[in-house]
Amino acid sequence: MRLLLFAIALLPFYVRAESFWLVTDFHMDSHYTGYVDSSQPKNCWAQKGSAPPQTFGRYGCDPNMELVNLFTGSMKTIDPKPSFILLNGDFCGHDISSGEKFDTVRTVYQSYAQSFPNVPLLPSLGNDDALDNYQLACGPNNDYYNKLSEVFNATGMTFQTSDDMATFQRGGYYSYSPLPNLRIIVLNTVLYSPSNRNFDTSRDSDPCGQFAWLQTTMAKAQQKGESVVVMAHIPPTDNGYDSQFLWRDAYADRWFSLLSANRQIPLSIFGHLHHDGWVLLRPSDVHALAVRVGRIPANAPAPNRADDVPFHAHLYAPSVTPSQGNNPGIRRFTLAQDGASKWLVGDYNQYFLDIERAYFMNKTALTLGYSISDHLRPTEVKIGLGPVAFTTLAMQMASNARIYAEWSMRHEVYSSLKQHQYLCAMMHSSREQYNQCVATYGGAAMM
Ligand SMILES: *[C@@H]1O[C@H](CO)[C@@H](O)[C@H](O)[C@H]1NC(C)=O
Ligand SMILES: *[C@@H]1O[C@H](CO)[C@@H](O)[C@H](O)[C@H]1NC(C)=O
Repeated sequence: MRLLLFAIALLPFYVRAESFWLVTDFHMDSHYTGYVDSSQPKNCWAQKGSAPPQTFGRYGCDPNMELVNLFTGSMKTIDPKPSFILLNGDFCGHDISSGEKFDTVRTVYQSYAQSFPNVPLLPSLGNDDALDNYQLACGPNNDYYNKLSEVFNATGMTFQTSDDMATFQRGGYYSYSPLPNLRIIVLNTVLYSPSNRNFDTSRDSDPCGQFAWLQTTMAKAQQKGESVVVMAHIPPTDNGYDSQFLWRDAYADRWFSLLSANRQIPLSIFGHLHHDGWVLLRPSDVHALAVRVGRIPANAPAPNRADDVPFHAHLYAPSVTPSQGNNPGIRRFTLAQDGASKWLVGDYNQYFLDIERAYFMNKTALTLGYSISDHLRPTEVKIGLGPVAFTTLAMQMASNARIYAEWSMRHEVYSSLKQHQYLCAMMHSSREQYNQCVATYGGAAMM
């Protein structure tokens, strides 16, 4: 009933609806055997080990193509005709060698090209895709960008013009218009990481000319009346666990200023963190960073409280790799076009694979974790996902412990590292039966 009312409420407003997939942080590792042993605690490369090998990934390890293909196949079952697919970087496993990187990006990209012919595929580059972690540099005579751009161009579904291919070859960035009046801007933000030794804010005010291009591209889109969604791998924010800022300050200042001048762009999409979440941007944040980098004096008037309203949301998303103890997850977004031809990101469904269930019970169908619209009011859904919706959610969590608890489950994509131990302990009092249950898990073992 609620769904029906909801649909009716939306009907007069939306004239057209489309969808797109977001998949990020594959970290594909063809050495994955499913075995872990104490000599290689970081990955699953062992030839044998004390615990059985796990197909479809193991918490703490990067996966091989089996898990990547499971997701590609599931996406095709759920929505085979999206308007486009965002592949948001870190195709390559954390521990693979530089000699394997190019083939890894190509293999993952091509699994999407084969499964989704004629669907635009929009890849970004992540730090682990660089031959040497984080060390992406500038073209145009960059073998790596050139070779990748040829692979991406060969499908005819990544670059629309020779200019787009040229900016990719210059610095790993480009834009794409998958639908009339919609522009996706794909940035290479690995250039802005403090771990990238090729750039330094005192020497390079604009690595690979990306900011100048971004400014022009945003202005052109605005002129043409296009709605814009920005995607990039590393977000310009705190990483949320040890207070490391993920871009150099002066580059983040540049980004904040650009967004501040382009408030028609409500959200941007990032990967890298392997978990669910968002970060809001408000005038006081822009001010504080501008003071920190010395762009404005410390005594410059700060925005007053009444005007300090969030105007942009940076979205994070779960990874395909379960390397941080999370379950692998992906998102399907819906896009809606209003009467004035403006595109809004209206909703997303987040799907995941419970890798313990997949392994012990052979249950490999993806589970729908949640739909963000279930937590928003129809008025917020109508204006599209952005600062208003995510501010409301944060306020709800601040005042309601149950909503916060739900969110914290989603943060690691419903992963419960010891789920089978806990459940077997609930079901059995003897050590023998407990051990047998843990070894085999699943419905039969539980009973
Ligand atoms: C990119 O692809 C188009 C066809 O889709 C082709 O005409 C063009 O030569 C390609 N460019 C390069 C540099 O490979
Ligand atoms: C797991 O399920 C798939 C199909 O869902 C089936 O083809 C396969 O044989 C099953 N494997 C085991 C070990 O039961």
